[in-house]
Parts: sequence; C-alpha cells; structure tokens
Amino acid sequence: MDIVVAITGASGAIYAQRFLHALAEKQVGVHLVVSPLGRRLLHDELGMEQVDPVALAGRTDHGMTLYNYNDVGSRLASGTFLHQGMVVIPCSSNTLGEIACGIGDNLIARSAAVALKERRRLILVHREMPLSPIDVNNYKTLTDAGAIIAPANPGWYLNPTSLTEIADFVAGKVLDLLGIDHTLYARWDPQCR
Ligand SMILES: Cc1cc2nc3c(=O)[nH]c(=O)nc-3n(C[C@H](O)[C@H](O)[C@H](O)COP(=O)(O)O)c2cc1C
Repeated sequence: MDIVVAITGASGAIYAQRFLHALAEKQVGVHLVVSPLGRRLLHDELGMEQVDPVALAGRTDHGMTLYNYNDVGSRLASGTFLHQGMVVIPCSSNTLGEIACGIGDNLIARSAAVALKERRRLILVHREMPLSPIDVNNYKTLTDAGAIIAPANPGWYLNPTSLTEIADFVAGKVLDLLGIDHTLYARWDPQCR
C-alpha cells in the first residue's frame, strides 16, 4: 500500500508524527512532502532541525520517501503514479485554499489536484480556529469535489490522559478513513465503561 502524506504549516505537527508512526508500523509505503512552513512547524513543535523520517516514523525501517516541495515534475505530480490515498496532516488554510482553487504550483497542491482528478481518496486534516467564511466555502468546494475534510478535532469521550492519546484519536480517525486497521484508540463501547 502506498499513501501520499503532506505536512503543511498548521499547528499540530504531533498529528503527522503519530500518523506516520502508525503507517510505518503497518509497513505502508509513505511518499512525504513538507511545505516550507511545515518544516518550520516540525522545528517549532517537535524540535526537528530538518525533516527526519526516522524521528517521524519512530523506526529506521520506515519505508518513507521524501520529495521536494518545489518539484512539480516529480512522479507524485502525475496521475500515472498509483497510490491508495493522500493525506494532508496538518493542513493549513493556505493549502486548503490552494487545493480548493485548483492551484498546482507546488508538489502538495499539485498532488492533491491529481488525487481529485483521478478520483482518489484525499483527506485534509485542517486546523484553524475560528474558521473564516473563506475556509467554510472551501470546505464546501472541496467536499463537492470529492475530498474529505477531517478537521484536527480530537474527541474527549475516550478520556485521554496524554498528548499522545489526544493526537492518536485524530491519527486513528484518518486511518479509519483509509481503511487501515489500527489500535491507536479503543472503539467506543458504553458497556465496557
Ligand atoms: C507557529 C505557526 C503556527 C501556525 N498555525 C497555523 C494553523 O494552525 N492553521 C493555519 O491555517 N495556519 C497556521 N499558520 C500559518 C501558515 O503557516 C501560513 O499561512 C503558511 O503560509 C502556510 O503555508 P503552507 O500551506 O504552504 O504550509 C501558522 C504559522 C506558524 C508560524
């Protein structure tokens, strides 16, 4: 299985890290693109001097390939590259707007445009608060185009006790959307409480 993952400059680098941990555990082939502001978030929130696949995946046998954000001639920019879904995690309002407008002048927006035209799964883990009217319009445009807006919006009903558990709720919901089995959280069952 191959998944395209993009990290952009929205707060919540931990969501990307937990998601990439889980993909590595499942031995999924990850094709990673990080925007310049995504790199800054990795630095500011995770202390990463540069994009570090081992630290992101939590293991050396991560099966991750890192792509240049500016290389719109990369294989990810072509519909001939087959994959089982693209996830932007976290997704900034800037990237949300670019994708909604069909802009393709960087590898994240271009890969997302390709996912939409090829009718492949595109999941956008947007993080902003509050939403602007433009974000709300973009949600509608993107949903109509076939994308899934999966806001970074952790639930609390499983009573998380750590930052990792909070992030795992969001990462686990994205894995559910991709149909990837996981144990990042226990399924809600009121009889077990
Ligand atoms: C520390 C920091 C936190 C940010 N958090 C958010 C955020 O949560 N959501 C958002 O839409 N933009 C956020 N931004 C602004 C984006 O990084 C900025 O709009 C940038 O142009 C996004 O570029 P990209 O989409 O190419 O990554 C943040 C910027 C910084 C420096």
